[in-house]
Amino acid sequence: MLPPGPKLPASLQTTWFMADAPGAFESYHRKYGPIFTVRYSGFPPEVYVTTAELAEQVFRTDQGGGHAGAARRDFLEHMVGAHSVLTLDGDPWWRHRKTLNPPLRAKQVAGYHDDIAAIAAEKIATWPLDRPFPLRDRMQEITLEIIIRLIFGVTDAGRVDRLRELLPGLIETGGSMQVAMLPERLRGPLGRVPFLPYGRFLRLRAEVDALLFDEIRRRRAAPGGTDVLGRLLETELGDQEIRDELITMLIAGHETTATGLAWAFERLLRMPDILRRLPDDEPYLDAVVKEVLRVRPVVYEAPRLLDAPLRLGEYEIPAGWYAGPYIPLVHRDPAAFPAPGEFRPERFLEGHQSRAWMPFGGGRRFCVGAQLALLEMRVIIREVLSRLELTAPDQAPEGRRLKNVTLAPAKLTRVTARARTPARTT
Ligand code: HEM
Repeated sequence: MLPPGPKLPASLQTTWFMADAPGAFESYHRKYGPIFTVRYSGFPPEVYVTTAELAEQVFRTDQGGGHAGAARRDFLEHMVGAHSVLTLDGDPWWRHRKTLNPPLRAKQVAGYHDDIAAIAAEKIATWPLDRPFPLRDRMQEITLEIIIRLIFGVTDAGRVDRLRELLPGLIETGGSMQVAMLPERLRGPLGRVPFLPYGRFLRLRAEVDALLFDEIRRRRAAPGGTDVLGRLLETELGDQEIRDELITMLIAGHETTATGLAWAFERLLRMPDILRRLPDDEPYLDAVVKEVLRVRPVVYEAPRLLDAPLRLGEYEIPAGWYAGPYIPLVHRDPAAFPAPGEFRPERFLEGHQSRAWMPFGGGRRFCVGAQLALLEMRVIIREVLSRLELTAPDQAPEGRRLKNVTLAPAKLTRVTARARTPARTT
């Protein structure tokens, strides 16, 4: 038996998804319960699950039968290449994953604490005062800088500037629907037209690649360094594989973290009692970050493409379909999170952690950058709050807007910043 789902034609389900994904999923959940099937034009059907237990059963397919890499390949391979931990599966995936794990462990990334704080302070000093601006874009400048300087390890000012100019365009064109959904057979001819999005994307990619390969060559000639590139150069990976993993960390790591930070402020500026306890209470700050990612998970799904049928309760999901948790609803399961609608950082104090908390996915494909992301969020929140007083010009909560595979605040977290009065900084 197949899980129930809307009877609308796939084209209308796709349109609803694009117009209001959270609203569509909430409606399906109310109507069909914890597991339902959604159909998108041009893709196999996808089964979404909304409880921790069902999600775990899907994540268990990472040991066989489920392919996270294949589920992401169509949308990402043109950017990250054929040797990325995001898009590989099986043994080749593990060969890459085991080289990325060590430099991104909590203990290793803790060494970036002061550099992250310094980058944040440098950028915060350029923010406008006393007039509203979208915070998410400013957060993305910080997280991009972290990738360029701490992951890629680029220090030469000219190269940092050039990457800062090129990378946002690369991501924007590469992530656009016109490029990501372009059928393979049209890529050759359209790629030759420089003013079309795909042509522009190819030009940007070639320029970024030339810079990265040059950096890799220079660093091989002078080994060492505490950045992630330095660590990858000590492994068996070749230049092309390293290039692919650098772009992978850029694609997976900087917009996501910036959006997490934008949500943190979108929520906190509407909760003065919680804000007052920050940033000095360190365990509380950590719990706040986790609660933000619970109530506003950045990535909404973590799908697997099945190559064998998967039994979920009374249902059997056929091979060739996608299955994955819809994370915002798993995070609102009252069995896992009592009073799920309330913002209660206390849930995460004293080491309490629920299996249902999955902003970073799960199984073997659990986000490799989770520790870095959590550190960045804590450090950047602390730097902002100790320097500026932020307010929301409009107290109404911001809605959620779909941006690639993320849910971002609809107004990108509009804030007004004022310099902190000295009394509050002591
Ligand atoms: C708040 C920030 C972030 C969020 C919410 C997030 C979320 C996720 C999620 C949901 C997945 C999919 C897991 C699954 O399929 O089960 C994932 C995978 C991944 N993330 Fe993150 N991520 C964040 C930051 C980062 C950072 C900073 C990096 C790198 C520096 C990174 C690198 C990756 C990579 C490489 C994968 C693929 C792992 C694999 O398939 O083996 N992410 N992330």
